[in-house]
Amino acid sequence: MQASNHDQKIIAGFDLAGYLTAKQKLINDTLEQILQDTSNTSHVLEAMKYSLMAGGKRIRPILCLAAAEAVGGSIDRVLPSACALEMIHTYSLVHDDLPAMDNDDLRRGKPTCHIAFDEATAILAGDALLTMAFQVLSSNEIPRPEHGSMWLRVTYIIAKAAGHLGMIEGQMRDIEAEGRKLSLDELERVHALKTGALIEASVHVGGILGNGSDEQIEKLKIYAKNLGLAFQVTDDILNIVGDPAVMGKSVGTDSLRKKSTYPSLLGKKQSRKLAEKLVNNALHALDIFDNKSDPLRAIAGYILNRKR
Ligand code: IPE
Ligand code: IPE
Ligand code: MG
Ligand code: MG
Repeated sequence: MQASNHDQKIIAGFDLAGYLTAKQKLINDTLEQILQDTSNTSHVLEAMKYSLMAGGKRIRPILCLAAAEAVGGSIDRVLPSACALEMIHTYSLVHDDLPAMDNDDLRRGKPTCHIAFDEATAILAGDALLTMAFQVLSSNEIPRPEHGSMWLRVTYIIAKAAGHLGMIEGQMRDIEAEGRKLSLDELERVHALKTGALIEASVHVGGILGNGSDEQIEKLKIYAKNLGLAFQVTDDILNIVGDPAVMGKSVGTDSLRKKSTYPSLLGKKQSRKLAEKLVNNALHALDIFDNKSDPLRAIAGYILNRKR
């Protein structure tokens, strides 16, 4: 692929691999800590830990932290919300993999939760991860911004993005569309809901808790909207060309399930072009920011070129 000007800017100035590794460690350590604090071991907690700590990329919490950094905010303040977002994302994967949904047996390089445990445990572990996210968001023990209303706003944004106005509606439409050819507009809506909503919330929440201005937050939302769609377009492409050993999940499953995807509607080449365009739109939205937004810029390039 030809590097755009934006890509060159990314490559020139920023150690993305080092950044991602450090932030993944921070998130993993914090998640471990949160899970430990839940004291009693139980079967459902074991299943929650199994899926949560199985080695995801942590893109949503990292975006949340990077958005806070971009507006000059503190990492400590956003960390609990970042972890809550990862819990919601992991729950969505546990349920997405169930036989009643995508019926997948490999996730994050390991047997899916319902294979490693059983279906009832996987359903409950997913339920508990979702609930726990809101426990973390409303816990008294976490560092709070001065204004309680800011915290309430964050909880509302996350709930709305995760629920029937966001991710769940996307999952519903995705299932309903199996075996049916969607129009491009319909597919864009499915992707924006099932994947885009939580990614957008992650960036939005980071911007709010980082004390970003209204203008900065609006630009962050444009960045995230484009990035969220680009993320799912690349997921569709990787479902065809990806290496399951690298991705830690099965490939070829979309066509088996007769899902409408970007490559099935546009072809791989045009889908790739669209992902590039979306990432460039995302980068343009960051033009008003200084170099504190370099992590967000670099992550945009990473999303386009990711192999997993
Ligand atoms: C997978 O998300 C599901 C999609 C929304 C495409 P990720 O690719 O972020 O998965 P993990 O968290 O790294 O396992
Ligand atoms: C994952 O979607 C689940 C959510 C976005 C909620 P997909 O079914 O498209 O992704 P993979 O391929 O299983 O990761
Ligand atoms: Mg699915
Ligand atoms: Mg799936």
